Amino acid sequence: MKLFIDSANVREIKEIWSMGILAGVTTNPTLIAKEGVNIEKRLQEILSVTEGIPVNGEAMGREAAELVAHGKKLAAIDQRIVIKVPMTAEGLKAIREMKAEGIRTNATLIFTATQCLAAARAGASYISPFLGRLEDNSRSYISLLEECRQIWQSHGLTTEIIAASIRRRSQVAEAAARGCHIATIPYPVLLNMLLDPLTEAGIKRFEEDWAALGSV
Ligand code: G3P
Repeated sequence: MKLFIDSANVREIKEIWSMGILAGVTTNPTLIAKEGVNIEKRLQEILSVTEGIPVNGEAMGREAAELVAHGKKLAAIDQRIVIKVPMTAEGLKAIREMKAEGIRTNATLIFTATQCLAAARAGASYISPFLGRLEDNSRSYISLLEECRQIWQSHGLTTEIIAASIRRRSQVAEAAARGCHIATIPYPVLLNMLLDPLTEAGIKRFEEDWAALGSV
């Protein structure tokens, strides 16, 4: 499973990029608003601190025509830009139109297996089921991931599944174990999933033993 960062913060993206584990970036209107920046400018900045990886920006609008117009504007920034499109009937029309123009899309705000299937059939390059928001609403994301795995295996779908709305590191492992292609992970969770108390204790012990050896 590939690791994406779910962030519009350039410092966070640079830090994870420097570790060699970053395969993509997702942003959304909330993350952009948190930064208080212009979306096009920020997408350009993210592109400039990464190489060769997809960078997702979200198209805004309710009607397919609005989504396509905004999507095209963002996609014109660079070939690496992927357009996030909300999972609605109008969103599916926009996905189909953008695919015909060679623009990659990511169907977002997905909560059911039938939404996953429809977005994949419309031609989305990626689909993003929101695990955390399902759990926030006492709905099982595990059963959704299991259903998707079966559907993808049975029907040979090539759309990549992005586990999104990740709240904690156990969800990253759960998504990987259930065949998700990608997880998009907030910065604090990305840092937290690298840690284990036994690793830190092991380093401390090695340092103490090394120091005790002195200058032999
Ligand atoms: O970017 C999409 C998704 O990951 C949002 O997550 O935490 O706002 O539910 P969250």
